[in-house]
Amino acid sequence: MQLLIKTFHGLEAVLAEEVKDLGGKNIELLRRAVSCEGDLKFLYMANHHLRTALKVLLPIEHFNARNEVELYNKTKQINWSKYLQLNQTFAIDPVVFSKTFTHSQYVGLKVKDAIVDQFRDKTGRRPDVDTQFPEVSINVHVSNNQVNISLDSSGESLHKRGYRRTGHPAPLNECLAAGMLLLAGWEPSIPLIDPMCGTGTILIEAAMMAAKIPPGVNRRKYLFMNWKDFDRDLWMSVVRSAKQSVEAPTVSIIGGDIDSQSIDLAKMGSLDFGLGRLIKLERIAFKSHLPKTKEGLLIFNPPYGERLREKDLNAMYQEIGDHLKANYNGFDAWILSSNTEAMKHIGLRPSQKLTLYNGPLECKFQQFNVYEGSLKKKEKGN
Ligand SMILES: C[S@@+](CC[C@H](N)C(=O)[O-])C[C@H]1O[C@@H](n2cnc3c(N)ncnc32)[C@H](O)[C@@H]1O
Repeated sequence: MQLLIKTFHGLEAVLAEEVKDLGGKNIELLRRAVSCEGDLKFLYMANHHLRTALKVLLPIEHFNARNEVELYNKTKQINWSKYLQLNQTFAIDPVVFSKTFTHSQYVGLKVKDAIVDQFRDKTGRRPDVDTQFPEVSINVHVSNNQVNISLDSSGESLHKRGYRRTGHPAPLNECLAAGMLLLAGWEPSIPLIDPMCGTGTILIEAAMMAAKIPPGVNRRKYLFMNWKDFDRDLWMSVVRSAKQSVEAPTVSIIGGDIDSQSIDLAKMGSLDFGLGRLIKLERIAFKSHLPKTKEGLLIFNPPYGERLREKDLNAMYQEIGDHLKANYNGFDAWILSSNTEAMKHIGLRPSQKLTLYNGPLECKFQQFNVYEGSLKKKEKGN
């Protein structure tokens, strides 16, 4: 079967790699998604194992609709009893980019009406809608007049791993953090430092990768479990073999943060999956944070000045650059920030600049190779 796996802008290529490693076939990169082919086992594995996936959709129908009447009629032609039972609740999740259909809620309403009317015509009864906790969720994607209808096999977004603690103003999304590690080419053999770790999302994602702990390890519910063809034995075999692959790796994963409450949150999050042993956390300002290895990778997102108010963000970014140049010779630093002006004050030339989104904020994820001579060059240039 064909699957559509959704992700964030900029993570399509790393998701495609994950899909390939998991055994997906005929992989294609799309906008904020990857399409591929796989069997039922692959669908379960994709939900359980993909670190940069937000949702796994199963397309069931696509057609052209020039107006709402066609949308209604063509939706009503689908045999909905294959996908939804009378006693199950359902919801429509409309995503619309169209000049013809301008209101996504209206598209959702038309599709809902068509489904409900089909059941009523056949049985005199109809399934109920539950927008919050539906048992079946139907994704309707309209691009101009092209309508794609899919079943959502995941339900709640897959970024919700279950280790997140509330109390930090600016935590990274878990999928984004995993994607940053993959984009930076991090591997468990490379010492990793997040010197402004906040709740520790990057570090926890890294430790989970190193220990081969699937991102879905704590999750009990996926919507595919409500489908007619749900194969419990197959699902249990996926979970069992994932458990058997968990390792106790030797890694160097280090986090620092100037704020003691953030360090406490990071510690609590890392304990959830028994990762406390793998991640060393310390309350320390970056300007005092010195490397314990000769080489390695720093990945972090400093305050951008959006949600966290900093008195002088440019000076702070300059301090980051100066400290890197003075003390992290031989390291690669990947920094995510939406503040392009402040980024210039790092004073190092980026060797790669990628665009990612942290929520609604467009960010640059930049790689800086800190090597001998960075400081001298800057001094000469001044
Ligand atoms: C945007 S948040 C990082 C969020 C983190 N990636 C997460 O997922 O929770 C930036 C963090 O940098 C910390 N920070 C700010 N200035 C710092 C400094 N000079 N040294 C170390 N940490 C600092 C803040 O306390 C905050 O937790």
